Amino acid sequence: MSELLRTVDLAKDYLLPDGETLHVFSGLNFSMNRGEIVAVMGASGSGKTTFLNLLGALDRPTSGAVILEGEDLAMKNAVSLARIRNAKIGFVFQAFHLLPEFTAGENVALPLLMSGLGRAEATRRGIEVLREVGLENKAGCRPAQLSGGEMQRIAIARALINGPAVLLADEPTGNLDWKTGEAVLRLLLDLHEKRGLASVLVTHNEKVSALCGKTYILERGALERLG
Ligand SMILES: Nc1ncnc2c1ncn2[C@@H]1O[C@H](COP(=O)(O)OP(=O)(O)O)[C@@H](O)[C@H]1O
Ligand SMILES: [Mg+2]
Repeated sequence: MSELLRTVDLAKDYLLPDGETLHVFSGLNFSMNRGEIVAVMGASGSGKTTFLNLLGALDRPTSGAVILEGEDLAMKNAVSLARIRNAKIGFVFQAFHLLPEFTAGENVALPLLMSGLGRAEATRRGIEVLREVGLENKAGCRPAQLSGGEMQRIAIARALINGPAVLLADEPTGNLDWKTGEAVLRLLLDLHEKRGLASVLVTHNEKVSALCGKTYILERGALERLG
């Protein structure tokens, strides 16, 4: 296994509207290899989403570095970061974040269209990935016509359509009942294996973290390996 993603002394502060500075965390040193799956746990407000957003280049650190495939993301401009996110990182969110005006098939194909592929080819590949998540028969449905579990499977298909190296999932089963959540989790684990991803799952659920190779806890501004 080769190292894929690393953080070096990662720190994030937010400037609050009242002028105060919130120190979310500092000194986070984290690394993961291809094929690894890790869980990140921690109380609400401990900085899990902030951490994931930094790993996925959705946000920039206050100090420290995120290194993806040997490249320091801080050195990249916004256009390069968007390209890196599109090609190398798949995001799955608790609330699915599907575009309501688009069909499931269009939602899934969107990252391909954004990377410049033609509509016919994007649609064809969208159907292929929908088949992987067992929903090719729902390609023409809008999100409002789908169940929560189906919406999350569509969101997973969208996250994977560009063949990313890294999958970042922020409480992916948090809006689902246990049975549906378990099925979504099993799908994530299967796709993780099949595609040899490096996956980070933020979760509150110890049953979920137990299925991951490693668990980290974010607490009082520090990241600690559990067990
Ligand atoms: N854009 C932001 N501006 C200011 N404060 C923020 C912002 N995003 C998150 N925070 C604060 O940072 C802390 C960590 O938030 P978050 O990363 O969302 O935690 P978690 O995902 O663990 O619940 C919280 O106190 C939250 O209120
Ligand atoms: Mg969060």
